[in-house]
Amino acid sequence: MKILASYNIKGGVGKTTCIVNLAYLAARDGYRTLLWDLDPQGAASFYFRIQPGIKGGLKGIFGRTRPLSAAIKATDYPGLDLVPADPSLRYLDLRLSGHNKPLKQFWKLIRPFDSEYDLVLLDCAPGISLASENIFYAVDALLVPVIPTTLSVRTLHQLKQYLAQADSKSPALLPFFSMLDHRKRLHRETINTLSGQGHRFLQTIIPSASQIEWMGVRRAPLGSYGIQSMAVMAFEKLWEEVRDRIGLEVGVQNGN
Ligand SMILES: Nc1ncnc2c1ncn2[C@@H]1O[C@H](COP(=O)(O)OP(=O)(O)OP(=O)(O)O)[C@@H](O)[C@H]1O
Ligand SMILES: [Mg+2]
Repeated sequence: MKILASYNIKGGVGKTTCIVNLAYLAARDGYRTLLWDLDPQGAASFYFRIQPGIKGGLKGIFGRTRPLSAAIKATDYPGLDLVPADPSLRYLDLRLSGHNKPLKQFWKLIRPFDSEYDLVLLDCAPGISLASENIFYAVDALLVPVIPTTLSVRTLHQLKQYLAQADSKSPALLPFFSMLDHRKRLHRETINTLSGQGHRFLQTIIPSASQIEWMGVRRAPLGSYGIQSMAVMAFEKLWEEVRDRIGLEVGVQNGN
């Protein structure tokens, strides 16, 4: 089982869009996939048409009075399950800080699913907090969408600095450019500059496309409509690159 989070200190960069599409593609390819919506906004749950809300809230889950498995819902897509968002996620930091070993709480909750899922994906809220540190500890890799603009790149530098000085183990960083608008000189120049500076961005770039915004109206992952487009192909390429980088075994596909 591999654990991957879509994460950025900055908001509105494409974290949820990316993880929703990757979750769909992973399940389509036969990987038993669980997506946990960790943002109280509940956007990932919305895209999969699942009502937010967990019985007993996070108090039950972190207090071990209700198992995480009881919160798991099946989506409309075979092989893809979801833990919906819950309003109590707003107090996640408080909930975590009450524990003896606050950094390991997510890892302890997710690890027991090792034989049930091949891939666990976390959709994170923006910001950097105790919850983020928990996620850094739990995951194999952080998928970091970066809009090619100054402030977005700056938050990537902040994240790298944070991870470099953190005491606990650091996950692999998988930054990629998101929402590229080819017409914008700043976008093109930012990509050229950063690529020349030895930053290890994934090769796939997700373009800015209105079809991606329409996901909010259709409430379904992009590849599920059966339409081929630049945007669909970009997410397919991203998925293949991420799958290879995190070393997901190909043998599990289609139950082999
Ligand atoms: N490649 C893209 N092209 C066009 N619009 C996009 C693209 N990616 C995301 N969007 C749109 O941008 C908005 C923010 O995207 P998304 O919700 O994925 O970002 P986020 O990083 O998860 O935000 P938050 O920090 O609020 O959780 C949404 O309206 C989404 O439809
Ligand atoms: Mg989001």
